[in-house]
Order: sequence, then structure tokens, then C-alpha cells
Amino acid sequence: MRIVLLGPQGAGKGTQAQRLSTLTGAQHIATGDMVRSEIQANTALGRAIKGYNDRGAFVPDELMVAMVQPVLQTARNWILDGFPRTVVQARALDTALHEMGVTLERVVILHAPDDELMVRLAGRRQSQATGRIYHLLTNPPPKHDPGPFIQRVDDTPATIRRRLALYHAATEPLQEYYAARGLLMRVVDACAPLATVTETILHAVDDGCLSSPSTSLHAPLDAAR
Ligand code: AP5
Repeated sequence: MRIVLLGPQGAGKGTQAQRLSTLTGAQHIATGDMVRSEIQANTALGRAIKGYNDRGAFVPDELMVAMVQPVLQTARNWILDGFPRTVVQARALDTALHEMGVTLERVVILHAPDDELMVRLAGRRQSQATGRIYHLLTNPPPKHDPGPFIQRVDDTPATIRRRLALYHAATEPLQEYYAARGLLMRVVDACAPLATVTETILHAVDDGCLSSPSTSLHAPLDAAR
């Protein structure tokens, strides 16, 4: 499995990538986790990128590409969560994969409307002990996870709005980018229950008979705006 999970902040990329990784053994490569880990460790890179993360801006492309490339080289099967986020990053990914002689198999787009995403991100908590992602109301932490359960600094209403605007402006165009390359894509309804979303993604990865961009890619996105 070598797939990219695309979708706005709060659509469930991290949640689904964790579940898919457990089910398939593919490595979950989450650039947001890499960014937070550098910040937490107070490395020189972490200090350089903290401001971008905290205000909901993108870390510069060249830094992100430099962080992801070595991880890609050591993983055989992977689920990319949060990368690429710009056309520059998508081109860098293409080049890196070409040099490694491997192909990107699928792009799966998780779709949910912005008002749902605002609610999800406001209630999101992540376990410091296990890294698992929860929601206070819809997916509360189980008793066996010791926590503590942390609210991210970028999950404030103003920052969430900024991140979503950035997604629509800079990341959504990737759908056109991948469509133009004839890459197999599938839009998945991210408002369905967690297990249903996981099943749908697995089916999309397995079946190979994905809908054409004109019918499946744009219509649900436009209708839900
Ligand atoms: P990152 O950590 O990737 O944040 P994000 O893109 O804002 O995405 P989120 O983690 O907010 O959303 P998600 O889709 O993973 O949702 P989740 O599964 O948690 O990046 C953080 C920062 O790092 C960026 O802002 C940027 O500064 C930097 N960065 C990272 N990558 C970069 C790149 N490539 N280029 C430049 N900068 C980069 O779910 C959200 C909530 O919804 C949870 O509470 C969950 O329980 C709930 N939920 C999920 N699915 C469902 C469902 N089906 N039903 C009900 N609730 C659900």
C-alpha cells in the first residue's frame, strides 16, 4: 500500500491512517506529527518551524520535503497523511518516488464540510502516552489509554479557520494536479462513522475501479460548500 490521504484539517486523515496502519502494517507517515515532535524536542528545526505550526500556516516547502524524503526511503508501504499539501510538494514527491523506482498507488480524498470540521477540531484530544486521536463527544478516550489527553495549540477557532482557508487555497488544487496525471483518486465521505470510512478507503485501495474525476471528484465537493 502506497497512498496519499488528502483532505481538510479535521477530516480524519490521522485517525484513518492510524487505523489503516494497524490493519495493513503500512507505515503511517504524518508530517504534522513530525513537525510537533521537532517542536517538542526543541531542536533548531523545531524552533524554526514552531511559529508556522502555532499560527496555522504551512511550514516552507523545502523544509517539509527535506523532512519527508529520508522517511520515504526507509519505508516500503506507507500512508502519507498531511503531505503533499502544495503543488511544489507534490512535484517533489513525484521526483523522489521516481528516483526510488516506486509508484504512488492511490490518492484518497476525505471530504467533510467546514462546519463539521470546526466541531471536530474543537473537541479533538490526542493521548500523550499512545498518540491516539480522540474526540470528547464522538470518540472519547477508552479507559485503557492512560493519557493525558492534549488539546493542540492550533485547534483554536481562529486558527482552525485560517488552516481551512489555506487548505482550500493551496491544497485543494492538488486534486487537479493528480487528475491531470491520471492517478486513481476516490472521494470518501468523511462524515460517515469511523469504521465505515476505514472500510471505504480499503475498498478504494483494493478495487482499482475508481470513479472519474468529473463525476466523483468535483460534484460532492461543490455540493457541500
Ligand atoms: P497536521 O497535524 O497534519 O494538521 P492538519 O493538516 O491541520 O490536520 P489535522 O491533524 O487537524 O486533521 P486530520 O484530518 O488528521 O483529523 P483527525 O484524524 O485528527 O499539521 C499540523 C501543522 O504542521 C500544519 O498546520 C503545518 O503548520 C505543519 N505541516 C504539516 N504538514 C505540512 C506540510 N506538508 N506542509 C507544510 N506544513 C505542514 O480527526 C479530527 C477529529 O475528528 C478527531 O477528534 C477525531 O476523533 C474526529 N473524527 C475523525 N473522523 C471522524 C468521523 N468519521 N466521525 C466523527 N469524528 C471523527
